[in-house]
Amino acid sequence: MATILIVDDDPQLRQSFKKILSAEGHRVQTASSGEAGIAAVEKDKPDLVIMDVRMPGMTGLEAYQKINRIDPKLPVIIMTAFGTTDTAIEATKMGAFDYVLKPFEIPAILELIDKAIQAGHFMHAQVQMDATPKEAHQDAIIGSSSAMQQVYKAIGRVAPTDATVLIRGESGTGKELVARALYQHSLRGTMPFLVINCVAIPDTLLESELFGYEKGAFTGAVNRKIGKVEQAHKGTVFLDEIGDMPFTIQAKILRLLQEKSIERLGGKQPIPVDVRIVAATNRDLETAVKEGHFREDLYYRLKVVSLQLPPLRERKEDIPLLTDYFMKHHCRDMQISNPGISEKARTELSSYFWPGNVRELSNAIQKALIFCKGGPLDVRDIAQAIDHTDLPEMETDTSHPVRPDLIIRKWVQKQLSDHTEDNLFESLMDYFGSVVTSEALKKTEGNRSQAAKLLGLSRPTLLSKIDRYNIKIKADVDFY
Ligand SMILES: Nc1ncnc2c1ncn2[C@@H]1O[C@H](COP(=O)(O)OP(=O)(O)OP(=O)(O)O)[C@@H](O)[C@H]1O
Ligand SMILES: [Mg+2]
Repeated sequence: MATILIVDDDPQLRQSFKKILSAEGHRVQTASSGEAGIAAVEKDKPDLVIMDVRMPGMTGLEAYQKINRIDPKLPVIIMTAFGTTDTAIEATKMGAFDYVLKPFEIPAILELIDKAIQAGHFMHAQVQMDATPKEAHQDAIIGSSSAMQQVYKAIGRVAPTDATVLIRGESGTGKELVARALYQHSLRGTMPFLVINCVAIPDTLLESELFGYEKGAFTGAVNRKIGKVEQAHKGTVFLDEIGDMPFTIQAKILRLLQEKSIERLGGKQPIPVDVRIVAATNRDLETAVKEGHFREDLYYRLKVVSLQLPPLRERKEDIPLLTDYFMKHHCRDMQISNPGISEKARTELSSYFWPGNVRELSNAIQKALIFCKGGPLDVRDIAQAIDHTDLPEMETDTSHPVRPDLIIRKWVQKQLSDHTEDNLFESLMDYFGSVVTSEALKKTEGNRSQAAKLLGLSRPTLLSKIDRYNIKIKADVDFY
């Protein structure tokens, strides 16, 4: 639920917004002029403002500028009618989240509202590091393992610089949380933070979403569009899943990094922009470079400051902390009392290998809480909640409550249905190869000769695998 402020001189429009948005569970406030809107922003601290451009007295554009000065992170959607779009475009150039043309379709505006609220949440909600959040709306990066301590240190070190940062790690390891923590601890923490998910946006739209276009740049470009990079001027742009960015757009990102300017599609002049880029990927960029999917020059440029997040199975000591955190979090969310968890169930959580990392742990705990039959969560609740409930003959009561072979099979099935890449066989083999290699090294406390012997490999073969899988041996005990 969010607080949304509607600023429009048309009482009917205010009323319909109130009806529609209240039905969606939001709290709606209204103001009939720019002046009243500014006062409401100062007093009520809404999560989102939706404002008309043309009003008697102060115009929407003037009001936007004042609101932007009060809180540059507050998302504002501008409403405009045909004929006043130039002003709305001007507002997006100054950082307004987006604009909509009246009359609008309700599903489309609801979708935009959700996006804007999410963007505002990312900018405002503090991410606590290594501490349980004090307030319900805060998020946290939980973990006190040495691998996570290194991550916190790295965040502390690079956040206040303007360096481009590449966050790497498997799916569900917390890359997005880390990106937000970096932003909040940066010198740009009071300015906008805009997220572009390179996989969620179709290739054909990604370029215009990032860089915008000029009127007439292509059929259908009836107005100029300001891209997210330009909108985030003086702020931070988070390029999520950059490993999936189309090759042609990669060149433009490189240029942005090197020349600090962009060109709108169909534009004649470079436009200087001052943004910090934070990027994240779960892809193996080295392979992507070798295979020609990722530009080598961009790879080198990004990799200068990179932050590697450890998979959960390599920091198992954090599982109890994370378990307690998610138990509390989900119980509060679902408004149920915390049933607690048995010691055996905890052991179960610690022995699983969590291919989906923290996200999978969080989901499993939520599922266990939903399906448990009262009393503390036990082994059976956990075994059923770990993503393999539909497997036949689960032996949840034996001394081997989770059958690893079935889990692996299940996980492979999921990969087969999720992935669209061409070299799936190789990447799955690489995955197993890297798990086997790093586990063997862990067992031998980093001793490469012993690990090679254990695996029945020659030492040079093992070394080439360490290299290929980019296994880092740190202080001889932690691998990531
Ligand atoms: N260390 C952590 N402490 C608490 N919650 C975490 C932690 N790491 C991840 N999470 C939670 O797990 C979920 C997944 O995290 P996030 O979206 O940051 O992962 P990701 O690395 O970006 O994954 P993907 O590659 O799939 O996008 C989120 O709900 C996040 O809040
Ligand atoms: Mg992510």
